Amino acid sequence: MTTQVRAAAYGGPEVLTITEESAPVPGPGEVLVEVRAAGVNQADMKVYSGVWGTDPAKLPIPLGFEVAGVVTAVGDDVTGHAVGDEVIAHPVRGGYATDVVAPVRTVVAKPAGLDWPEASGLMLTGTAAAHAVTAVDLGAGDTVLVHGAAGGVGLVAVQLAVLRGARVVGTAAPSQHDLLRELGAVPVTYGDGLLDRVRAAAPDGIDAALDLAGTDEALDVSLAVVAERGRIATIANFDRGPREGIRVLGAGGEEGKEIREAAAPELAELAATGRLRVFVEATFPLTEVVAAHELLASRRASGKIVLLP
Ligand SMILES: NC(=O)c1ccc[n+]([C@@H]2O[C@H](COP(=O)([O-])OP(=O)(O)OC[C@H]3O[C@@H](n4cnc5c(N)ncnc54)[C@H](OP(=O)(O)O)[C@@H]3O)[C@@H](O)[C@H]2O)c1
Repeated sequence: MTTQVRAAAYGGPEVLTITEESAPVPGPGEVLVEVRAAGVNQADMKVYSGVWGTDPAKLPIPLGFEVAGVVTAVGDDVTGHAVGDEVIAHPVRGGYATDVVAPVRTVVAKPAGLDWPEASGLMLTGTAAAHAVTAVDLGAGDTVLVHGAAGGVGLVAVQLAVLRGARVVGTAAPSQHDLLRELGAVPVTYGDGLLDRVRAAAPDGIDAALDLAGTDEALDVSLAVVAERGRIATIANFDRGPREGIRVLGAGGEEGKEIREAAAPELAELAATGRLRVFVEATFPLTEVVAAHELLASRRASGKIVLLP
C-alpha cells in the first residue's frame, strides 16, 4: 500500500486528507520512487485553493510535484536508471506520498552532497529560477532587481544571477537581509518607499527585473526602473503581467519546457559541486501536511518546506 495526500475538496489546508492506496506500478518509460522527501510548493496550494479552477470532476487531487527518493522498480523501456538509484523526480503527480511513479525523463541522479530534504526542494523552484534568469538574458555587467529574493524561487534566482556575473538587488523582509548579503546580493526591504530604496541601492540603474512575489508593487517598481519591458519577467502575476507587455513565465504564459528541462541536470551539477545551495526552512512528517501548508500559506517561510513520509 501507499500513503498519499489528496485534496478532497477545494478550500484551505483543511481539505487535505491522507489516504491509503494500492501501490502504484510503473508503466513503460516510468520508474517507481520510494519517496524520502517531498518538496512543498505554492503551486500545490494553487491546485486546491481554487486559483486554478474548482472542477469537482478533478477531485480528489493527489498533490506534490517534486520528490527525492530511491528507485524501487522500473517499467519497460527504461534506460539510465535502475533499482536502488537515489534520484530526484520533477515534475511528478502525487509526490506527497510514500511512493510515486515518475516518467523517466523527469528523473535525475540525486547530487550526493544534498540530503533528502534539500534534494526534494531543488527542482521546482530551481527550474523556475533558471527560466527567469534565462528569459531576461542576465549576464555579466547587468544589475538585476529580484522581488521576493528570499523565497524558494528567489534564493535560487539570486545564486544563479550571481553565478552569471550579475549584480543583484533583492527585496526581502529585514530578517532575511544577512542571508541575501551572504549570497552576494544587496538587500532592500519591500513595502512603501521601495522605489527610492532600489534607486539608492543601484545608482547606475537596473537592467532587468524578476518578479517572484506577484505584487503590484513589484511590477510598478520594475516598470519604473527597467527601460526594456522584455527584460522584466514575472512568474507570479498572470493577471497584470500580460497587459504590461512583460515576460510572463510558467503554465498560462511562456512554459519554457525546453529551458526548464535543460536546467534540471545543470542545477543538479551546480548543487553537487557546492555552487548552488538549497535552503530548507522546515520539515514536517507527511501526516502533518496541514501544518506544513499553514506555514506555506503564511508566506513567512524563507526557503523550502519539505514533507517526510
Ligand atoms: N510560474 C512558475 O513557473 C512558478 C514556479 C514556482 C513558483 N511560482 C510562483 O512564484 C511565487 C513565489 O514562489 P516561491 O516558491 O518562491 O514562494 P515562497 O517560497 O513561499 O516565498 C514566499 C516569499 O515571498 C516573500 N514575500 C512575501 N510578501 C512579499 C512582498 N509583499 N513583496 C516581496 N516579497 C514578499 C517572502 O519573503 P520574506 O521572507 O522576505 O518576507 C517569502 O520568502 C508564488 O506565487 C508561486 O506560486 C511560479
